[in-house]
Amino acid sequence: VAIETILWKGGVLQIIDQTLLPETCRHIELSDAAAVWEAIKSLRVRGAPAIGICAAYGVLVGVRERQPATQQAFLSALAESADYLATSRPTAVNLFWALDRMKCAGLEAAAELDPAARFARLEREAVALHEEDRQLCRAIGKHGAGLIREGDGVLTHCNAGGLATSAYGTALAVMYAAQEQGRRFRVFADETRPLLQGARLTAWELREAGIDVTLICDNVAAQVMKEGRIQLVVVGADRIAANGDTANKIGTYGVAVLAHAHGIPFYVAAPYSTFDPSLPDGAAIPIELRDAEEVTRGFGRNTAPDGIAVYNPAFDVTPAELIAGIVTEQGVLRAPFGESIGGMCRGEGGVL
Ligand code: MRU
Repeated sequence: VAIETILWKGGVLQIIDQTLLPETCRHIELSDAAAVWEAIKSLRVRGAPAIGICAAYGVLVGVRERQPATQQAFLSALAESADYLATSRPTAVNLFWALDRMKCAGLEAAAELDPAARFARLEREAVALHEEDRQLCRAIGKHGAGLIREGDGVLTHCNAGGLATSAYGTALAVMYAAQEQGRRFRVFADETRPLLQGARLTAWELREAGIDVTLICDNVAAQVMKEGRIQLVVVGADRIAANGDTANKIGTYGVAVLAHAHGIPFYVAAPYSTFDPSLPDGAAIPIELRDAEEVTRGFGRNTAPDGIAVYNPAFDVTPAELIAGIVTEQGVLRAPFGESIGGMCRGEGGVL
C-alpha cells in the first residue's frame, strides 16, 4: 500500500490534501507553521498519528521560518512553534506526544554551536518519528491480523488507515496484514458523519488496496450486525486513558454498544503514542467541538434550517468494558486494561 500521506524531501513538507479525496489525490506543500496549523485544523491532514507527524515537521518549518541565529533565539522559536501547533486540535494525544519529542530534541539541539547543525538535529527527530510510525503500523498489523478469519465481515468507523498515519494505518493495518496472509474477508465502512471520513477516505483507500469493501450509512450498522454480516469490529483511537477508555471519532461509542448487543468483539488498534496514562479514565479526555457548519452544510449545500442549534462533538469515548482488546505494536492488550496498559507503558512487554 503505497499511500504517502506526508512527505519530507529536500526540506519541503508535503501532505495529501485529504479534503479533496476521493475525487482528487493531490499533495500540497506546507511552507510555514501557519500552513501546518491550518492543514491540521481543517482536516487536510487528519488521523491521530498523521497529525503528530505533521506537527513535528511543523515545528521544523516554524523554527526555520524564524531563522534563529543564536541559541536563545532557537529555543524561543522552538517553544513558540510547538505551543502554537498545540492549539490546532485538542483530542488526539499523538499531537502533544510529537510536540514534546520535538521540544526535547530541540533542547539537545540547542547545545550545538552552529545554527545549521541545530536545525539538522531537529530534522533528524522529525524524520525518526515519521519512520518509527511506519514500523509501529506494521507491527500493529502483524499482531492484529489473526483476529480476521477467512470469510469474516469486519466493520470499521472513520479512517484509521494509511491516510491517518505515515502509511498502512492502525485498524486498517490489521486488514492489510490479513490480506497479505491470503485471507479473504469483507469490510463494511461506516460513512462517518458529518465529514464522511469513512466514505471519502476508508472506502477509497481499501478499494485502492484491492480489499472487498462495502460502504454503509452510519445508521445501517445495527442492521448489518443483526443480519449476521459482521464478525469483528476494529477501529482506531485518538487517545486512550490509563483504564482503557478510548476516544475515537464520534459514533464509535455507538458502534461499540451495538457490537456488545450483538455479541460481536470490538477491538481498538493504536500505537503507544496514542496512550495517555496521565489520565485515569475517559472522562478526562478533552473532546473537540467543531463548527456547526460541518453538520448544516458540510459539503456546500444547506441540509438544515439557517441558524439551527447544532451540537457537533468530533469524538466520543468508548468505555473500556466494551473493548475486547487493544491491538498495539507490542501485542494485543486485554482486560484488566489498567494492568496491561500500565505494563506496556512501563515497557514490561509480555502483554500477548
Ligand atoms: O477527525 P479525524 O478525522 O482526525 O478523526 C480521526 C479518527 O477518529 C481516527 O479513527 C483516529 O485518529 C485513529 S487514526 C489511525
